[in-house]
Order: sequence, then C-alpha cells, then structure tokens
Amino acid sequence: MVAAPVDPRSTAAWATLTRLADGFTPDLRRWFAEEPERAARLTLDVGDLHVDLSKNLLDDAVLAALVELAGEVGLEARRDAMFRGDHINVTEDRAVLHTALRQPPDVEVEVEGQDVVDDVHDVLRKVYAFADDVRSGRWTGVTGQRISTVVNIGIGGSDLGPVMAYEALAPYVQDGIECRFISNIDPTDAASTLTGLDPATTLFIVSSKTFGTLETLTNARLCRAWLLDSLRSSGAIGRGEDDTAAAVAKHFVAVSTALDKVAEFGIDPDNAFGFWDWVGGRYSVDSAIGTSLVVAIGPERFDEFLAGFHAVDEHFLRTPLDRNVPVLMGLLNVWYTNFLDAQTHAVLPYSQLLHRFPAYLQQLTMESNGKSVRWDGSPVTTDTGEVFWGEPGTNGQHAFYQLIHQGTRLVPADFIAFADPAYPLADGDKDVHELLLANFFAQTKALAFGKTADEVRAEGTPEAIVPARVFPGNRPTTSIMAPALTPSVLGQLIALYEHITFTQGVVWGIDSFDQWGVELGKQLALQLAPAIDGEESALADQDGSTRALIRYYLEHRTR
Ligand code: F6P
Repeated sequence: MVAAPVDPRSTAAWATLTRLADGFTPDLRRWFAEEPERAARLTLDVGDLHVDLSKNLLDDAVLAALVELAGEVGLEARRDAMFRGDHINVTEDRAVLHTALRQPPDVEVEVEGQDVVDDVHDVLRKVYAFADDVRSGRWTGVTGQRISTVVNIGIGGSDLGPVMAYEALAPYVQDGIECRFISNIDPTDAASTLTGLDPATTLFIVSSKTFGTLETLTNARLCRAWLLDSLRSSGAIGRGEDDTAAAVAKHFVAVSTALDKVAEFGIDPDNAFGFWDWVGGRYSVDSAIGTSLVVAIGPERFDEFLAGFHAVDEHFLRTPLDRNVPVLMGLLNVWYTNFLDAQTHAVLPYSQLLHRFPAYLQQLTMESNGKSVRWDGSPVTTDTGEVFWGEPGTNGQHAFYQLIHQGTRLVPADFIAFADPAYPLADGDKDVHELLLANFFAQTKALAFGKTADEVRAEGTPEAIVPARVFPGNRPTTSIMAPALTPSVLGQLIALYEHITFTQGVVWGIDSFDQWGVELGKQLALQLAPAIDGEESALADQDGSTRALIRYYLEHRTR
C-alpha cells in the first residue's frame, strides 16, 4: 500500500519557505564576503563528482527549511519504498527498480518472491557474451564478414540514453566499431543514417521496451527491407525463405520486455535481450537497452558505468538529507520553481562529449515530473516540472547566455566540467582545455557576482550605455566537476539527475514513473490516418484547423 502524498503546502516548512521567499534579496557578493568558508561549506562530493552549491541563492534558513520540507513530505520513506520494490508507480501498478540494475551480484532485491538482481546479472551476462562476440569478430554477418556498424533503432528512452552515452564515451569506443541511431519516424532519419553503410557489416539492434512503438517498428521494417534488398541485389543472398531468415538472424537482435512480440517480428528469441516492466524507459540505459553501448565500449567499461550509478545510489540511500547531493539539488529546484518563480533550468556541459546530455535530461526530468495530478489522482497543489534545456558551453555563451546574464527571468543553471580533457590539444603553447575551463569558471563567476554600474563606469564607459553594461549578478548556478568523463563518472552523473528528479517528484506528490501525457497524441495520430488518406467523411469529422491543415497537405503533396 503506497502512502498518500503529503500536500507540501500543508507543511510547516512550506510556510517557512513562503515567509523566507517574501522579500528575499539574495546577495552572493555579501554572503561570500561575510563567510569566507561558504564555498567549502556548500561543496559536497558524491563519488567522483565535486558539487559546488555555494553560488545558489541559498542561506542557512532556506537550506534548513528545504531539508525540513523533505522530511515532512516523507522523502526518505518513499526513497526506501522505491529501493525495496514497492509499487510506487501506482498508475501502472509497478515497482520502480532501476537501482537494481546496478546492484552488485551478491545483493538481493526481491520482487514477488523473485531476486531481480539475479535476473539482471543473467541478462547482463548474455549481453556481454553477445558484445564480446561482435567485438572479437566471432559474430559475423550472413556473408561471414565482421560487423563494423551497429545501428540502434529505438525512440525516447530506447534511444536517448544509448546515443547520449555513446557520444559521451566516444574515446572508449573500440576501433573498427561505429554505432548509429535511428529514432524519428521522419523517413529522413532512416534514409540518412543508412547512407553509406554496407549491409554485410551492419547489425541492427531493435530496442523497444514495449515492442509496440510505431516509430521503432516502422524503422525496423525499413531497415529490414534495406538489408534484404541490398544483400539480394548484390547477390550476397538469394530470395528464398532460408536465406532471408539467415540474414535477419545474423543482422537483427532485439531488446525488449515483450519477447513474444520480438519473435513475431521475426527475430530469433535467442538473439533477444530482456528487461522488466519495473525499468522505466527513461531509466533504462543501464539495462539491456544499453546493448549498443556495451558493443561499443565493451563489458568491462560497461561494468564501470554501472558501478558509477551504484555509487550515487548508495549515497542517495545512506547520506543524511542535509549532506545528500541529489536531495539538495532537487530541493533547490523546488525552491526556485515554487518560491522564486523559475520556469526553466539550464544544464550546460563544458564538454562537447556531453552534447546530447541536455536532450537526455529533458526526457528524464520532463516526462517524469511534467504532471498535474498526484499519485493518488488528486490535482497537484503547486507548480511542477520546470523546462530543462541546454547546450554545451561555449556554444551557448554565443547564443542564449545573454538572457541568463541580463534577462528578466531567473534561469538556474548547472555547469558541468572535467579536469582532464578527452582530447588534449594545444594551440601553440596554449592548452585549449584550459581555455574551455577559463570560460566555465568565468561564467558562473559573472552570473553570481555580476558587475555594478560603478564598475562599468570605472572602465570609462559613456554614461548613456552604462545601464546596458551592468550585470545584476545573483543568478544561481551549481558547478559539477569531476576528474574526467569516464564511464563511471557518466553513470554517476545520470544517477545524480535520476535522484534529483525523484526528490522533486516526491515533494510535488507526483508519480514520476508514468507518462500518460504522451498517449493522446499517439492515439490521434493513428485515428487521423483515413483523413490523411483524403477520406472525405474522416476529414469532415475533424476540427476546422486540423481539417484545413490536412487539406493543405493533400493539395500540396506531389506524390
Ligand atoms: O511515448 C513515450 C515512451 O513510452 C517513452 O516513455 C519511452 O521511452 C518511449 O516511448 C519508447 O518506448 P518503447 O521503448 O516501448 O519503444
């Protein structure tokens, strides 16, 4: 039985925070001047992540009230319920156990009498054996050639995690193996991704938790047709059923919780890797959904990736709330969203390798917490789910940072950087990574401390343009640093954001593990098919705008 959500507005901490927010005038310049230890006091380590919270709009009273809020809404009890396997995903009546995916083999987590950690390691072993076969060349295509390209076909959590992690860990990818990713039902995606590939050396991984997703199944069929047509036309295989089955068996594997549907598609169940309904799509990169990544970086590195997640899980599970990094970061997001009126949250990696990390986080955070009802079905009592977005620095600096520095909106931002670069390069005698880091340090400093009118004047600026050159400061940032972007550090970063998301969801009383908001659009897309085919009665059933748009399409298409 899942405990009812506590209305955060009914707590004493909420009342305190409301009082503190009223007329709140943060002054980071003064706070740092008055307390030389502020940075040390508000910097915490979790695993290899060194997290500096000191440039947030946070004083002792706010911090204490936020931690009290976490206590009053029962964060620890719900966290423990998640780790234990209670069905905290109430609208789907499921356990939420992505944390079990990274437990070491000797730990037991029982769900309905079954040790799920055992199951996890069984599948991992199977994925690892497959990956070793592909990496070593033991697994060949139907013509006997070694696989050089792995194409992951999936969407949402069955794409964003694998592609983000593959890009992030590019320096660890085995020479001679490349991964590509097809997600969009826009045929351009399949067409452009397949361009230049040799079917004889290409392996497809169809990744879909449900194996019912229109985009993925359509793309899988397109790829199967491309494979068979190309192999047949080059004479590599014949047109008979046996040749077809052999080609599909050597070039298609699947990852899914629905192994029956995988078999229906024509993929040999021996070449399918399972996972479970207690792994949400957006929490699945560390399950068999990461198979493309395992092929790319190898089982050993994937083990390190999992260990990184686990280190942060342990911290989240065992560290008191007032030193618990994901808890504090989640609570800060609540402070900004619910008390200081922030609508968005920027994530700004100073690492080109993390260029898909903000997109990954968009699904994690917004599909989890973009909700208007609580887990008992009652309406939420507060704003929820800020818009997450971002781009790698320094590209963002030359695009949207203007608004963060001088706009009228509060945009809390997480800055992420690494001491060591993946590719150390020098421009003459200048270390280029140092130039990147100089920007990383400069931006959070500028955002926090700004530049006063007097400082602008002191530079000889004409009075008329002084106001335009003032930086107000007190723009909150969290700096996350780590020694290097290793597989373990990437796992740590992902787990950090998973638990931040969880913390916010608990405060808001949200089931962060369902995603009903994506269903209506899917349903309507299917229902609209006859109208798009030009069927008059179906067109007549549409609202005026939709009907007119479809007519525009019908009149302008040339095929
Ligand atoms: O439509 C949203 C969603 O269900 C995501 O939550 C999920 O990650 C994605 O679609 C893909 O689903 P599947 O892995 O079942 O194909």
